[in-house]
Amino acid sequence: MKISSGNRYQKISRPADPIIFALDLPSFEAARTYIDLLSGRVGMFKVGLELFIQAGPGIVQYIHERGETGVFLDLKLHDIPATVSRAMKRIADLGVVMTTVHCGENPAMLEAAAAACGQVGVFGVTVLTSVSGPNLLQAGFKAEYADQVERLVQKRAEAAKDAGCAGVVCSGSEVKMIKKRLGRQFLAVTPGIRPADKTIVDDDQQRITTPGQAIRDGADYLVIGRPIQHADDPREMVRRIAAEIESARMHPGRGQDL
Ligand code: C5P
Repeated sequence: MKISSGNRYQKISRPADPIIFALDLPSFEAARTYIDLLSGRVGMFKVGLELFIQAGPGIVQYIHERGETGVFLDLKLHDIPATVSRAMKRIADLGVVMTTVHCGENPAMLEAAAAACGQVGVFGVTVLTSVSGPNLLQAGFKAEYADQVERLVQKRAEAAKDAGCAGVVCSGSEVKMIKKRLGRQFLAVTPGIRPADKTIVDDDQQRITTPGQAIRDGADYLVIGRPIQHADDPREMVRRIAAEIESARMHPGRGQDL
């Protein structure tokens, strides 16, 4: 596999490599259908809390047995540094490519995660996209953060970088700012991706971005769930998204010129 940009998590040789398909499914059996369908056709599979609680490490092992597709284990750790460190060592044993930890309040937690992760890329969750300015005010944050949530995202992304994290999970609208301030090598994983012609019924994502726009803004990985899961032909949807990624890469304005 060709490694580009000198980044060890960035196995971007095919246009589909930035695609992380979110296995937002309730059981091993349900997930297996999509793993069998898309293994080797997307860059990674994202295993989140729902699936990991039901299926455990066996789901990671199954993905590995199916082929080369890596695992993004999205468990969003948040605990005292000693506990995060111990959990991170067990995650490293699983051989996943990437995992997540909340940036939280204490840099010691992020540092513990980054120190214990071995070869796994640790990504900081800055501010959940479900959190609004008024929520922050109510939780006791200063008005400057409630008025501009992006400021808190920036502050937490800086803390993640200082602690040694590989990058952050952020919304498409924040990628440009993060790349500009923290550099291209600090990776950005972006959920809330919606192909322009694919509408999701009762969509809960608020700040959405097309695959092409996210790539042009500098996103390294795109987390995509329902647009692929709900497609009549998930493989064809992956091909279309990959074509859009390829086209966006060929046009200027991508993050590398920030
Ligand atoms: O179906 P959809 O494409 O919206 O899936 C997005 C995935 O990204 C889900 O697994 C969701 O939990 C995850 N995610 C998100 N927003 C974040 C972090 C993760 O949507 N800030």
